Amino acid sequence: MTGDAARMSGITIPTLCHQQNETPVGVCRLCVVDVKGARVYAASCVRQVEPGMVVKTATHDVDGVRRTLLELLMADHPTPCSRQQQTQDCELERLATHAGLTAPRFPGLPTPRGHDESSASIAVDQARETYEATKSERIFQERTLADEQQKLEVGASTSFVVIQFQRDLAAARSAEVSALASYQKAKTALQRATGTILDDYQVVLDDAFRGAIQQSSAPPGTP
Ligand code: FES
Repeated sequence: MTGDAARMSGITIPTLCHQQNETPVGVCRLCVVDVKGARVYAASCVRQVEPGMVVKTATHDVDGVRRTLLELLMADHPTPCSRQQQTQDCELERLATHAGLTAPRFPGLPTPRGHDESSASIAVDQARETYEATKSERIFQERTLADEQQKLEVGASTSFVVIQFQRDLAAARSAEVSALASYQKAKTALQRATGTILDDYQVVLDDAFRGAIQQSSAPPGTP
């Protein structure tokens, strides 16, 4: 993908919903880049590299679009959130601070979206961490079983022990599948939340991409 090519060239593009070595979903759009000839900016985490393509990753306009999207996401994000308070590693708040966002341009939404813990971006982070932990556990169990099977072949283990490890591996695989499903679900929720935020503020994504959002008025439904 374009984002991977940029990273391998030492160019940093901010991301929120994607991490290296994962299947990108193109949800948050913070990784937008300007592809020469394209009608709108592209999410670099899902944009395929093409021969001869010319990509600008950090122009004044591109930075402005990222900033607007960050402002919209932050408008619906309690600050500091509980994660930031506890571990200081909320990626959304880190990006907002890095972008120099101090005062909100958009007002908070009139209807609370639930508790801090249900914040979609935090949920994605947590689900990803859980999935990665279960994946590591499954890899560990596979290696352990392989070692034990080798021992069995030379008479240094028993079938009973091997069966135990096979069961552990089956449990680890099951946990990994379940965690992956939760991770995908969290990504979908983030996608929905992001789309809803834009709807709530009557923001057309193309306008956001062009940086054409001027208003700072309250969202619909605000008295
Ligand atoms: S990081 Fe590319 S869309 Fe979120």
